[in-house]
Formats: sequence, structure tokens, C-alpha cells
Amino acid sequence: MSWSAKQYVAFEDERTRPARDLLAAIPAVEARSAIDIGCGPGNSTELLVERFANATVRGLDSSTDMIDAARKRLPQVQFDTADIDTWNENGPFDVIFANAVLQWVPDHATLLPSLAARLTQGGSLAIQMPDNLNEPSHRLMREVAADGPWASKLADAAGQRTEMASASDYYSMLRSHCARVDIWRTTYHHPLAGGASGVVEWFKGSGLRPFLEPLDEAEKAQYLNQYQAALEQAYPALSDGSVLLPFPRLFIVATR
Ligand SMILES: C[S@@+](CC[C@H](N)C(=O)[O-])C[C@H]1O[C@@H](n2cnc3c(N)ncnc32)[C@H](O)[C@@H]1O
Repeated sequence: MSWSAKQYVAFEDERTRPARDLLAAIPAVEARSAIDIGCGPGNSTELLVERFANATVRGLDSSTDMIDAARKRLPQVQFDTADIDTWNENGPFDVIFANAVLQWVPDHATLLPSLAARLTQGGSLAIQMPDNLNEPSHRLMREVAADGPWASKLADAAGQRTEMASASDYYSMLRSHCARVDIWRTTYHHPLAGGASGVVEWFKGSGLRPFLEPLDEAEKAQYLNQYQAALEQAYPALSDGSVLLPFPRLFIVATR
């Protein structure tokens, strides 16, 4: 699945806030090495550079478009194109930061302990994932996909996101490798201009990608029209024409 840095940064402030909240929960450590996996256009990497001024900070992402944007943004940082699924560098790292990416990577029960094993003693694995598959925004993406001439083309779209495990399952996956596992869930309420069309624009940069990529231009336009009409019911416009998008996210900081 391809990613567009330009579409993603359209809501950069809102998308970076959970990264700030995640970073703030990492225990104080004199980090010498930090890596941002699924670094996107470098917005989350920039936070690591600011906080861990004495560390060697690196980033990796599977999208060359994102890596190009990240290199432009932070020319002093080493960014590599790599897939987390097959990334097997042992480190060890003082900080492994994964903001808004592991929901696209399968088999958390194998992946998370494998990442924790690459931490130094006292190092932290920091993860944030959207927990929104049961929100109207995502339920409606699936319903419109199943109920249109594109149904067969979109049969695999929903499966590209990894189902979230429960907080207790994540705790169990990490507790035997880490001295402390901190898990919490926050719902942000983002005011978006333009009513339901604002919600469409937001998800074009992330969750809608697997649903749009298989479609031709005419189908894309039709799918988006139907999706937006369904969103108008689920997210009624406020008096100023904006909508509030509730956006739940799960956070994990596991420290060795
Ligand atoms: C929602 S963006 C997050 C960007 C940034 N970390 C942030 O905090 O805003 C998700 C990023 O994960 C990348 N990604 C998705 N699957 C990946 C994988 N298997 N390996 C590496 N990167 C991946 C995408 O290319 C995209 O840049």
C-alpha cells in the first residue's frame, strides 16, 4: 500500500499530538540511540531529536515518498527504507518509537516481544495505535465497500489493518520481557472544518488508503461520495459547520 506524505501532513498538528503524549510517558533516560519505526514524513522523528539531544536518532519507513519527505525535513538524521515486518536489526536501542504504524503490521504477539528484546536495560518501546476500527468512520468504510459495484475489488481492504488485541493481551505479550508496562487509552475529539468532508480528508491520508487504491478514478469519486453521505448521518455538523471527530488511541510504553 502506498502512502502520500502530502496528504498525511494535511492534519500534521493533530496527528503529532499523540506522538507528543507518547513521548512524554517514556521514563527519563540518557538515551544514546533512538529509532523511529514507521517514521512517516519525520514529524515524530523530530520530537525524538528534540528530546534526546545527545542520542543518535534514526528513522525507517516502508514508503519512499515518506522517507524522501523525512530526509528533507531532517537532513542530519539517517532515514532508511525498510519494512518493520522484516527489519531484524538487533540494536540494542534505548528507545524504539512506533507512533501510528503497528496497526499496519501483522502478528503483534510475535512482533512486540521481538522489538522489546532489542532494547537496552532500562530502554523503552513506545507504541501508539489508533483504536478506531469500531468507530462509525471505519464501520462505514467497510459498509460502503461491501455494498457497491467495487465489492469484489475491495474484499481484502479491511483486512490490511491488524485487529487490536486487548490491553491485557498486550500487557501479557510484553510483561515477561519488561520490568514495567504502562498502557492507557485516550479519545481525542478533533474539530474538523467542512463537516463530513473534513472527516473524508482526514482518512484519505490514512485509513481510506486500502479502500481507494484498488479503484479507478470514477469508482474512487463514487465511493467517496457514498462514504461522505453516510458520514453526514454519523457525524452531524455543528452550528459552525465543523464536526467533532472522536478518535480513540491505545498507548503502550514498555520499559526493560
Ligand atoms: C500514520 S503514519 C505515521 C507517521 C509518524 N510515525 C507519525 O507519528 O505521524 C504510518 C507510517 O507507517 C508506515 N508503514 C506502514 N506499514 C509499515 C511497515 N510494515 N514498515 C514500515 N513502515 C510502515 C507508512 O509508510 C507511514 O509512513
